[in-house]
Amino acid sequence: MKLRTNVDLRTLNTFGVAAWASQLVDLEHEEQLGDIRQWLAGRTALILGGGSNLLFTRDLTEPVIRVCLPGKSYQIDSSSDVVRVVVGAGESWHGLVMWALAMGFQGLENLALIPGTVGAAPIQNIGAYGAELADVFESARVFDLAHGTWLTLDAQDCEFNYRDSIFKQARAAHWLICSVTLRLRHHAHGDSELQLNYGDLRAQVDAIREAKGLGSSTQAICPQEVAEAVIAIRTRRLPDPARLGNAGSFFANPIIGSERALELQARFPGLPAYPVVSTDPSGQHGPTMKLPAAWLIERAGWKGRRQGDAGVHTDHALVLVNHGGASGQQIRRLAEEIQRDIRKLFGLTLTIEPRVV
Ligand code: EPU
Repeated sequence: MKLRTNVDLRTLNTFGVAAWASQLVDLEHEEQLGDIRQWLAGRTALILGGGSNLLFTRDLTEPVIRVCLPGKSYQIDSSSDVVRVVVGAGESWHGLVMWALAMGFQGLENLALIPGTVGAAPIQNIGAYGAELADVFESARVFDLAHGTWLTLDAQDCEFNYRDSIFKQARAAHWLICSVTLRLRHHAHGDSELQLNYGDLRAQVDAIREAKGLGSSTQAICPQEVAEAVIAIRTRRLPDPARLGNAGSFFANPIIGSERALELQARFPGLPAYPVVSTDPSGQHGPTMKLPAAWLIERAGWKGRRQGDAGVHTDHALVLVNHGGASGQQIRRLAEEIQRDIRKLFGLTLTIEPRVV
């Protein structure tokens, strides 16, 4: 076990804010978990993946475990088109997506270019362009650092929801995701199996095919083309954390009762609202709709604004950015001002999506 002291976290969080960890270990093999437990001696550790869904607002005196567990393997089910892919938590998510496409495995193409590690993906149930992790998730192998025991959690155990899972709950405070098993498909099924219904995704795929001279071709769209389109849209609209510090969407899109959404649409013409299936099993609260927080923030006049080096991205109002020297506290203050304005103008509460430490 390699223990490092006084570690600069600036390059270990995609916001690029300054913070120090007094003690940090890199977890590279599962065999190190015993030593790590002893070192923790009951303390709660902060578990760090790619640092792409985190905002540090202070130095860390608690122990930090940086998950670097590698590995990708797969098993093809000979009686069906299912391929099970087992991936170490420390692998890059986008690297996995590109590998799966190169192997001819379908199911991850809409989730291309999402920053972060595979182990972090189940925590917020990453999602984009009409797909989410839960669609392909089979199980996670988890080590309980408090009890020294192993757990295998299937999709139901994980309680996946929009940008939410059991891993965000207090009972998971000592759980460390070591690997994730996904269920993909290993032969091409043609367009019918692809998810192309989100926003301008279909139009982007068509533009890519047109540019390749495939505009009038009857040849089926392939998963690679979907990934190319997703990458093109993301590159156009979302800032690259390597150039401009950010943690993707800073707020979740609010989900509210349909009646209230329709009232807001009457007051604010042009406000988009998308019906969502209620996750309330009793169904008591009736139909619900999701509103784009980016629209609300833009309407409230925040798009492109900055306070010192903390800002709202010029091309996407849901993304807060660090123009260079912003501290985590400055970014949090900016977020709080936005929340206050959204409450005043629309009567809605915006929930911060990344973990604020
Ligand atoms: N919009 C604006 N102004 C903007 C940007 C967007 O008004 O500056 C409106 C438009 O009406 C647009 C709508 O917001 O149609 C939705 O925008 P977009 O398609 O970009 O999606 P989003 O709801 O803002 C979500 C995810 C993203 C994911 C995209 C694409 C959340 C919190 N965010 O964003 O995920 O990439 O959909 O599927 O659900 C992330 O979680 O870090 C992330 C980037």
